[in-house]
Amino acid sequence: MKTLIAPSILSADFAKLSEEIKSVEKGGADWLHVDVMDGHFVPNLTIGPVVVHWLRKATSMFLDVHLMITDPMTYAPQFIKAGADSVTFHVEAAQEPQKVIDLIKSLGKKAGISIRPKTPLSSIVPYLASLDLVLIMTVEPGFGGQKFMADMLPKVTELKKIVDDKKYNLKIEVDGGISAETAPLTVKAGAQVLVAGNAVFAESDRAAAIKKIRDSVDSLG
Ligand code: DX5
Ligand code: ZN
Repeated sequence: MKTLIAPSILSADFAKLSEEIKSVEKGGADWLHVDVMDGHFVPNLTIGPVVVHWLRKATSMFLDVHLMITDPMTYAPQFIKAGADSVTFHVEAAQEPQKVIDLIKSLGKKAGISIRPKTPLSSIVPYLASLDLVLIMTVEPGFGGQKFMADMLPKVTELKKIVDDKKYNLKIEVDGGISAETAPLTVKAGAQVLVAGNAVFAESDRAAAIKKIRDSVDSLG
């Protein structure tokens, strides 16, 4: 399977978001990763459904919405209505994760679960059969530009093994500190979708930045 690259707009210039998005769309990005933070689940505030609504009008790219918020049950439908293609929420934030998954899927969108670095994989195993996406955090959620946590790689390997053994139909995504240096490590472990904020948006040539990441994993064969 082709590895998908999902630039995170958290590291983009929000005053010229449509230009920023076009630069990565033209530059060969597969998905657009949208980080939603509420100042409660994580100590940072970012964007809400109104921004997703305008992103939807600005691009036909797959909008991969990552909710780092305390109440996914209330807000997931609002992001779907605004134009999200997938909604990923944190297992630590949901009272009843299965209900959130069922809600997202009942609205016709892809459902994902994410786990913080300290959260064990066992916390999401009961939901794997009904998920489209699992997002393994490779930094503590909240901010872009942090250092990749290599000690999360065994979690990816373990998840890949479960998915293969049980023949689950989900994609494994990694998020945090992904670059041309760290991407191959995650792909070797089983990652299929790579979120990259700083590694793409801190570079002026977005196409070159995306290609650098893609080449780093393509060379794995
Ligand atoms: C962190 C976010 C990430 C972040 C990644 O809480 O979920 O998506 O934007 O940024 P980099 O790639 O710079 O670590
Ligand atoms: Zn994210």
